Amino acid sequence: VQRIGVLTSGGDAPGMNAALRAVVLAADHYGMEVIAFRHGYQGLLDNDHAPMRPADVMHILQYSGTVIKSARCQRFKEVEAAQEAAANLDALSIDALVVIGGDGSFRGAEHLSAHWDGQIIGVPGTIDNDLFGTDATIGYATAVHIAMDALDKIRDTADAMDRVFIVEVMGRYAGFIGLSSAMAAGAERMILPELQKEKPLTISTIVKHIERTNAIRGEGSYVMVLSEHQWPGGAVALAEQLEAEYHLPCRPCLLGHIQRGGPPSPADRILASELGVHAIELIRDGVTKVMAGMQAGTPIAVPLRDTWEKKNPLDSNLLRIQHEIFNPVKKTPRT
Ligand code: F6P
Repeated sequence: VQRIGVLTSGGDAPGMNAALRAVVLAADHYGMEVIAFRHGYQGLLDNDHAPMRPADVMHILQYSGTVIKSARCQRFKEVEAAQEAAANLDALSIDALVVIGGDGSFRGAEHLSAHWDGQIIGVPGTIDNDLFGTDATIGYATAVHIAMDALDKIRDTADAMDRVFIVEVMGRYAGFIGLSSAMAAGAERMILPELQKEKPLTISTIVKHIERTNAIRGEGSYVMVLSEHQWPGGAVALAEQLEAEYHLPCRPCLLGHIQRGGPPSPADRILASELGVHAIELIRDGVTKVMAGMQAGTPIAVPLRDTWEKKNPLDSNLLRIQHEIFNPVKKTPRT
C-alpha cells in the first residue's frame, strides 16, 4: 500500500485531530502518503482533498473539532454517490481509506466497500460511545468531563436555592454520557434511554423521588440528568411540567454542543493516538472493513457491521450503585 485516504465524518468529537495526526505520523513512519478529504464523504464526492504530511499535523492534537472538517452527507447513501466516490479514489490511486467517525460514518464506509476494492478501516470518533467492540470511543471521555464540570456548576446554584435542575446531555440514543456524568457529579436521578425502555418515568414518580430524597437528607438541591430524546420537549418541557403540576422551583439546562468542544482529555488524546496508529497497522496487515478498537488496553479489529448491529450495554454496576445505593427509589431492607 502506497497511498492512504483519510476523512472525518459525522458529528465531530474531541480527539479527532489527535487521531488524524496519528494516522499521518504512522503512515509516514511506514513510508505511505496520506491524502485528506475535507468535509467527510462530501469531500470524496467533490474531489476536495489535499496531501497531509507530518508538518501539516503538528500541534493539532490539543484541539477539538477537526482541521479537515466534517459533515453529515445524506447523498452518500445513494448507490451513484458510492460509485462516484470509488471512481474518485481510484483516480487518485488511493489503496486504503481511513474513516474517523461514528456509526453513520461506518455505514457509509460499508456502503462504499460494495463499490470499491480498496481497504477501509474505521476509527471510532463520537462522543456518544455507542459503538460495539471498543471499550470507549474517541471523544466520550471529554464529553463526560464537560458534562460533569457543568453539573458541578449547576449544583452550586441549585444548592444555594434548594432547586431542582434538569440537565440535558447528548448521547444520541445511548445513555453512556448520562450515566457516567451523573455518577461523576453525584446527580440524584437519571433519565436514560436504556432505563426508559424498561420502565418510563412519569412526572409523579419523579416528584415522589424528589420528596423521598428530601425526606432522607433534608431540603436541598436535586439534580437530574436527562439524556436527549428521552422526554417529549426535552429538559425545558420537563421543568415546566414539574413546576406546573407540583409547584417546585425547577430549572432546565441544555448542555448541547458545548459537550463537543474545548481541549480533549488526556484519555481521548491517548486513545486517538493509539487507534490512529492501529488503523495504519491494520492496513499493513491487509485487513479491511474493520474498526480499530481498544479492549482492556489491547488494540483489536472489529468487523464494521458489528459496530452498529451489536450494542455495548451500560455498565450494570454503575447503574446499580447510582440507583439502588446512592439514590434508592425504595428503601432496601437491612440484612
Ligand atoms: O453523535 C454526536 C452527537 O453530538 C449526538 O450526541 C447528537 O445527538 C448529535 O451528534 C447532534 O448532531 P448535530 O451536531 O448534527 O446537531
